[in-house]
Amino acid sequence: MAYWQPYTTLRPYNTFGIDVQAQALAQVTAVEQIPRLVATAAGPLRVLGGGSNILLCTDIDAWVLHNRIPGITAEPLPNGNTLVAAGGGVVWHELVQWTLGAGLAGLENLSLIPGTVGAAPIQNIGAYGVELQDVFSHLEAIDLASGKMHVFRREDCAFGYRDSIFKREFRDRLLITRVYFQLHSSLFEVNTAYGAIAQQLNDWGITHPQARDVSRAVVYIRSTKLPDPAKVGNAGSFFKNPTIPNEQWLALRERFPQLPAYPTDSPERVKVPAGWLIEQAGWKGIRRGNAGVYPLQALVLVNYGGATGDEIWHLAQEVMASVNQAFGITLEPEVNIWGGKGKKI
Ligand code: EPU
Repeated sequence: MAYWQPYTTLRPYNTFGIDVQAQALAQVTAVEQIPRLVATAAGPLRVLGGGSNILLCTDIDAWVLHNRIPGITAEPLPNGNTLVAAGGGVVWHELVQWTLGAGLAGLENLSLIPGTVGAAPIQNIGAYGVELQDVFSHLEAIDLASGKMHVFRREDCAFGYRDSIFKREFRDRLLITRVYFQLHSSLFEVNTAYGAIAQQLNDWGITHPQARDVSRAVVYIRSTKLPDPAKVGNAGSFFKNPTIPNEQWLALRERFPQLPAYPTDSPERVKVPAGWLIEQAGWKGIRRGNAGVYPLQALVLVNYGGATGDEIWHLAQEVMASVNQAFGITLEPEVNIWGGKGKKI
């Protein structure tokens, strides 16, 4: 039976390891528990997954539903693919490993991304040339206000770069109970277009990679570049890679010939790596008290231990102001800010 625990610390439930309290917390392990929890909450509701994409700045004046709905199933589809369903509380990397063990391809490039299945569609997680939307079929979610179940097909989700309808119109209104993926049944249908993956497979002498080889390469690359949240508090990329007009990029390239650029959906704009901008502005490895810019990947802010959310947010603002001054580019946080001065509504 799920029940509310009053004044609970959220420290074990966020990968930055920030110690703030919620009004109350409940562990949700089944959809049937939700109506009673919603009816007995005495304040605004929030949903928490793996806590790997949030920065908690102050105590949270909300009743927090911790989504731990389990379960993974698979069924064959008439087109030869396989439909995999996973509970919103399943740990993302455990799903990736389960699918590889079941001989299915499609999620391998998304190996080792921290967080849960239910949180993955919210920011349309992506890495190494693949985004969640490429393998997404549909999802089920419960509307916390009405208690009604909704189904969202891919075309309903307005997926974009680290963006979806769940960050906008439906922000804080839904608990995602189950997500469905359409995966390939051939382990050889892999995407190795991303330079670092191709390079790693080549270094290992793998010429015909299977999905599990790609997963191994991704795990290796991520482990060398990104801090393990179990050791150093962090939320992955703190900022989004910004997109800028082509003319601005051409003008900047006059001054910074090394500035990389990647295509976007629009022919008029390019995406530039925030990590590069932050590094050039001199922030890589800089530490302010217990908060810092990770020395191996400037896009990641870290909690060296005991940092407050506001301390990290203050560092983020310093980085943003400095990048703006150096390049005229405004960085946008990729993580969700809860409470404090960084409050995003
Ligand atoms: N770069 C630097 N300095 C740095 C970091 C990056 O110069 O400190 C340059 C690299 O040399 C490269 C470019 O920036 O030219 C891109 O770097 P990388 O391939 O490491 O990827 P990224 O753009 O920094 C994005 C995602 C990551 C994802 C990787 C791989 C965002 C906000 N981040 O990072 O996602 O793992 O691509 O696909 O899009 C996350 O969202 O939490 C995350 C880790």
